[in-house]
Amino acid sequence: MRIGIIVGSIAASSINRKVANVVASLLPEDAEVSFLDFSELPFYNYELDGDFPQVGRDWKDSIEAQDGIIILTPEYSRSIPGVLKNALDWSARPWGQGSFNGKAVAVMGASIGASGTAMAQQHLRNILAHFNANVMGQPETFFHFNPDAFGADGSLQDEVSLAVLTNFANASAAHFSAHAKVAASA
Ligand SMILES: Cc1cc2nc3c(=O)[nH]c(=O)nc-3n(C[C@H](O)[C@H](O)[C@H](O)COP(=O)(O)O)c2cc1C
Repeated sequence: MRIGIIVGSIAASSINRKVANVVASLLPEDAEVSFLDFSELPFYNYELDGDFPQVGRDWKDSIEAQDGIIILTPEYSRSIPGVLKNALDWSARPWGQGSFNGKAVAVMGASIGASGTAMAQQHLRNILAHFNANVMGQPETFFHFNPDAFGADGSLQDEVSLAVLTNFANASAAHFSAHAKVAASA
């Protein structure tokens, strides 16, 4: 199973990337896990659709090659970061060629705030519904980031937090697997 992880932040010190690294380590050992990077994408402009740039094609190909996608979104101003929205807009075009169409997806997010990205995730779910993605409903995972819970090597020391991420990783893998079976029998 190929699982792609999208981190909705371009900050080198992104807390969502730290959490994503832990989630990646909790996915099934036989899964081929890769991080999908959108940081090279320019601002999306529909005038580019007629001569779609290679960087946009590469981004779409990287999504379409996966059996399942995990998106970790930060919450910026009660929504998803602009850089993530830009990348999602690229994935949706050219018209009729949406890369998330029928794709199995799981979403979560980490925040230093108490709301734990709940609003950003809801916005992200709206977008993915429009894309006709097959988004995992539960467990909703609003991860409150505590820097003290992480060791110097990036490992998560807190057992309760680790159980939350383990539950999310297991459910995501099961969702992708079930989706693949349905797709294969269709
Ligand atoms: C422009 C901006 C807006 C933010 N708005 C929110 C917010 O609405 N809710 C929240 O919980 N955190 C908010 N934060 C704090 C983020 O949770 C925090 O910066 C976090 O580190 C972002 O995730 P990242 O490090 O993976 O980029 C905001 C941060 C920035 C820079």
